[in-house]
Amino acid sequence: MALFRLGAPSENAIFVRGDGLYLRPGEMRDFDGWAGLRERSRAFLTPWEPTWPGDDLTRAAFRRRLRRNQTEIENDEAYPFLVFRDDHVLLGGLTLGQVRRGVVQAATLGYWIGEPYAGKGFMSRAVRAVIGFAFATLRLHRLEASCLPHNVASIKLLEHVGFSREGFARAYLRINGIWQDHLLYAMLESDSLPPPSRGTTSPDGRGRAASLPS
Ligand SMILES: CC(C)(COP(=O)(O)OP(=O)(O)OC[C@H]1O[C@@H](n2cnc3c(N)ncnc32)[C@H](O)[C@@H]1OP(=O)(O)O)[C@@H](O)C(=O)NCCC(=O)NCCS
Repeated sequence: MALFRLGAPSENAIFVRGDGLYLRPGEMRDFDGWAGLRERSRAFLTPWEPTWPGDDLTRAAFRRRLRRNQTEIENDEAYPFLVFRDDHVLLGGLTLGQVRRGVVQAATLGYWIGEPYAGKGFMSRAVRAVIGFAFATLRLHRLEASCLPHNVASIKLLEHVGFSREGFARAYLRINGIWQDHLLYAMLESDSLPPPSRGTTSPDGRGRAASLPS
């Protein structure tokens, strides 16, 4: 995993390399691909996500989303990424959100993959790359994630990349319009990372990240 600053138009962008894919914050040039993939994956994604606003897939809403994301990154509040295959095909999104510093040094992980690309190991590889970024570059101590108890894909993903189940929170998040119970998972910087399970050629990127852009 590596981290670079890119030249214009991606100036100030963060770049995280994974195995066969890369992650960077979204840009306006991603709008068509992003909106198309989200629309195509609507039925696949909506049971697992907060209710989409009515204008969510519009260019104006995407622009607002990018501005918000940029502010969050500048303020070290969240690191929202899009995930691309090495041939630049957009696969999905991944966010390290709710960054807490001070005595906590933790962030919350969230992710989605476009339906055409599901079940091919992409999100496992994206999460592995971001674990390196979170611990080695952001110097976090703990990553948290939560998922619905019947979200088998998400549970498998978290457990296979090395998260531990820590608890159960009642009516924890309002998903698809309903307050729903969640399983709570976490990974510590000191936890060992299991080896990649399939189709991967490199171990995790811990310790190989460059410094965070200032
Ligand atoms: C959860 C999600 C991101 C997983 O992405 P993905 O790229 O398909 O995940 P991977 O291909 O890396 O697979 C991860 C594990 O889940 C398993 N898996 C994937 N899809 C599955 C499914 N539909 N049913 C059961 N297991 C599944 C894989 O086999 C793999 O386990 P393995 O290592 O034992 O083979 C994707 O299913 C998704 O976007 N779902 C809808 C949105 C969502 O649930 N977001 C997360 C909310 S907590």
